[in-house]
Amino acid sequence: MELIVAKSAGFCFGVKRAVDCVYDKLKRGTIYTYGAIIHNKEVIKDLERQHVTIVDCVEDLERIRGFDGEIIIRSHGVTPSVYEALSTNEIAFTDCTCPFVKKIHSIVKEEYEAGFHIIIVGNENHPEVLGINGWCDNSAIILDCIETAKTYAVNHCFDKQKKYSMVVQTTFQTNVFQQINEFLAEFLTLKVHDTICSATNERQKEAVDMAKRVDKMIIIGDTGSSNTQKLYEISKKYCKNTFLCETIHDLQLNIFSTNDKIGITAGASTPPTILKEAINIMSELDNQLFEEMISKSFVTLHTGDVVKGTVIQVSNGEVTVNLGYKSDGIISRAEYSDDPHVNVDELVKAGDEIEVYVVRVNDGDGNVQLSKKRLEATKGFTVIEEAFNNNEIVRGKIVDIVKGGFISLIENIRVFVPSSQISNRFVEDLKSFKGKEFNFKILEFDRSKRRIVAGRKELAQKEYEELRVQVFEKLTAGEKLNGVVSRIVDFGAFIDLGGVDGLIHISELSWGRVKKVKDVLSIGDKVTVTVLEVNKEKGKISLSLKDVDSNPWNDVAERYPIGAVVTGRVVRMVPFGAFVELKE
Ligand code: F3S
Repeated sequence: MELIVAKSAGFCFGVKRAVDCVYDKLKRGTIYTYGAIIHNKEVIKDLERQHVTIVDCVEDLERIRGFDGEIIIRSHGVTPSVYEALSTNEIAFTDCTCPFVKKIHSIVKEEYEAGFHIIIVGNENHPEVLGINGWCDNSAIILDCIETAKTYAVNHCFDKQKKYSMVVQTTFQTNVFQQINEFLAEFLTLKVHDTICSATNERQKEAVDMAKRVDKMIIIGDTGSSNTQKLYEISKKYCKNTFLCETIHDLQLNIFSTNDKIGITAGASTPPTILKEAINIMSELDNQLFEEMISKSFVTLHTGDVVKGTVIQVSNGEVTVNLGYKSDGIISRAEYSDDPHVNVDELVKAGDEIEVYVVRVNDGDGNVQLSKKRLEATKGFTVIEEAFNNNEIVRGKIVDIVKGGFISLIENIRVFVPSSQISNRFVEDLKSFKGKEFNFKILEFDRSKRRIVAGRKELAQKEYEELRVQVFEKLTAGEKLNGVVSRIVDFGAFIDLGGVDGLIHISELSWGRVKKVKDVLSIGDKVTVTVLEVNKEKGKISLSLKDVDSNPWNDVAERYPIGAVVTGRVVRMVPFGAFVELKE
């Protein structure tokens, strides 16, 4: 908003002089004014409060004869009869008639005495015009517009044989005065005195200039003031959005906007306080509208909104986001992801566009609390629900081991996986699953309780079956394979051959006698085994840990020839003899 205040706005010299005089004399005693000192209700009300009384006719002066105080004659001036009454009734007075008005009085008096007929251009009811008319014995022809002048001419009110002298009300419109002058000059002997006050001229000229270049125009002044009315009329011609008000409070301020260029001027009887108040309120309005505009330019946020923003900085897992809101948003490390392995500083960088969930509009420090994981979770919840309904497979990562099972992060939601559902076979080492990714089936989904249970036992079994078919296709007896001990039982050890288990019977663990499997193998041992038999029908693979090449029976005839004397250890006694161990 741009405010332009007219330099000529407000009290003119004559009005200021009269008003100052009243306030000054107030301090010294009882004050009357002849007529309202000024055409402004606010000032008049204030003077009333201070016991200033208005008298407005000669009879009133007779009534207050002999009062102890003073009477002030206003700037509009009075008729000679008023001065006479003041004198007759011995009333002290101060004459605040504006010198420019006084000048008109003397012109009229002199010209009237010199035989001129007086024409006054002005408003016939205006106190100044009434006062002037008194100086020619109230004989003047009073014209307030060109139409009146023409009507008078048509009705033969002018005598072309006589001489006329014309004066004009100090606050009258120059152009109307000129029209009347031009019209009368054509058929009258006319002496013209342009007595329009230069202050009025200046004020009106400035108002016109201003009205031509502003969007809205405010005229401040009393609606009963003629010069204020004229300011309004001439401004309205050039600026259709011209508003007249006695004080700024009379205006509905919501008609103004930040883009407006606004002109302010005020009539000659508008006190500086009223003008100043208007300027202050309009300036405040400008600030308010500006603030409103600024706040409108920010996006509005509510808890639960999902919005897009731009990453400003990432530091120690905390992400600062510009949301176009008046405060920045913060995603803490905990609100970014539930996956402890995620390194936020590597995932996002300044300048990235990011979609976030608003947790709180003000986190207490003036920032917006945001969450990435809650947004993902909301989306993830829907994905998981669909997977559950359609019996589809989802992918997840085991991030925690808890009582009775695991927590898998599936679509950024922490989902419980019971221990019994993590595999198709017995699992001794639960920790080995942590940090690994698997396919899962959603076993339970309850949106209202936000309960989700996943498992992979069935999937693992299926995978195992498929793998076993492939392995059985490839395996042949006598083949040597590498494997890992996955389970130990009394009768042997199961070897994981890459997803499919084979069995080493206890008798196939060593060429010697083995009492307990655990004396030879432990879970997790890496071993090289020989395939003894592949039974596709029964789905069994028999393995041996014995190295065929080191079969001690291969060279037994050479090492133990008949008749040789050897040393051995009796290991078992049976009814039919004794077993002697010659070599392990
Ligand atoms: Fe005097 Fe001009 Fe004001 S005539 S009262 S200074 S408008």
